[in-house]
Amino acid sequence: MDCCVKNTCELEDADFEKISRFVYSLCGINLHEGKRELVKARLGKRLKKGNFVSFSDYLHFVMTDEGSDELTAMINSLSTNLTGFFREESHFQKLRGIIFEEFSMPEHSNEKVKLRIWSAGCSTGEEPYTIAMVLAEALEGRKADMKILATDISTSVLKRAAAGIYSEKSVSAIPPVMRFKFFLQGKGRWSGQYKIKENLRVLVHFAYLNLKECTLPSDSFNIIFCRNVMIYFDKNTQHALITTFYNLLKPGGYLFVGHSESLTGFAHPFRYVEPSVYRK
Ligand SMILES: C[S@@+](CC[C@H](N)C(=O)[O-])C[C@H]1O[C@@H](n2cnc3c(N)ncnc32)[C@H](O)[C@@H]1O
Repeated sequence: MDCCVKNTCELEDADFEKISRFVYSLCGINLHEGKRELVKARLGKRLKKGNFVSFSDYLHFVMTDEGSDELTAMINSLSTNLTGFFREESHFQKLRGIIFEEFSMPEHSNEKVKLRIWSAGCSTGEEPYTIAMVLAEALEGRKADMKILATDISTSVLKRAAAGIYSEKSVSAIPPVMRFKFFLQGKGRWSGQYKIKENLRVLVHFAYLNLKECTLPSDSFNIIFCRNVMIYFDKNTQHALITTFYNLLKPGGYLFVGHSESLTGFAHPFRYVEPSVYRK
């Protein structure tokens, strides 16, 4: 019986293995056995939507040229995008400290502070916009050339990030003074929605980037945030990424990883600063 006739498709061992191998080779995401139900549920919806008769039929299609849009939808649906403003708050206190100590010119200085930050795996934008708010406040009144590159593999989260519109619940994590300063509060049919102000939005450039195929130039960034992304990768991919981050940082640059992540267990050239913060 075709699986479209039943309500759900069976995910055979061989198909799960093929999907895992394919996704791993494409973007480093490690779909181990514990992720089987997630794959079945999330891709099951795609199968239903596209009237595919089985997971192998679906996989076959996404591997063809005409399946490239569905491949994007597949990656969008398999990525986990949990995030939030000021998530893992201590990182932003540390960032503020770094800016004050290392990038803050005297108020009337003619020298311009130049700062390049990368939010790698930025999801729906809360992380890079939090970085932007902290920079804008810390460098207020200073001449500054600051840019934040924010990248992700999921095109659907990037679209939402670029729109910069958030619910009341998600902006509740932002201190009220900052919220007032950096967001427009929706009225009428936009009530309950908050839109990032243009002067902050322009500091962030969103782009698609697969961390498994990163070809950014060396010595590009003062600070890299790659938080709660590497947990989805296996050890080899994590190790390769740590080396990439080292090369992309300017000397003295900082790497922030998620609070539950660490570089322990990898041979790496970073200096340890404090838990989940490292320095080139
Ligand atoms: C859990 S979110 C973390 C968001 C944010 N960094 C934070 O800590 O709040 C992980 C993000 O990594 C992205 N991601 C996963 N694999 C990726 C890859 N190979 N290249 C780029 N981004 C990837 C996902 O799409 C997702 O948006």
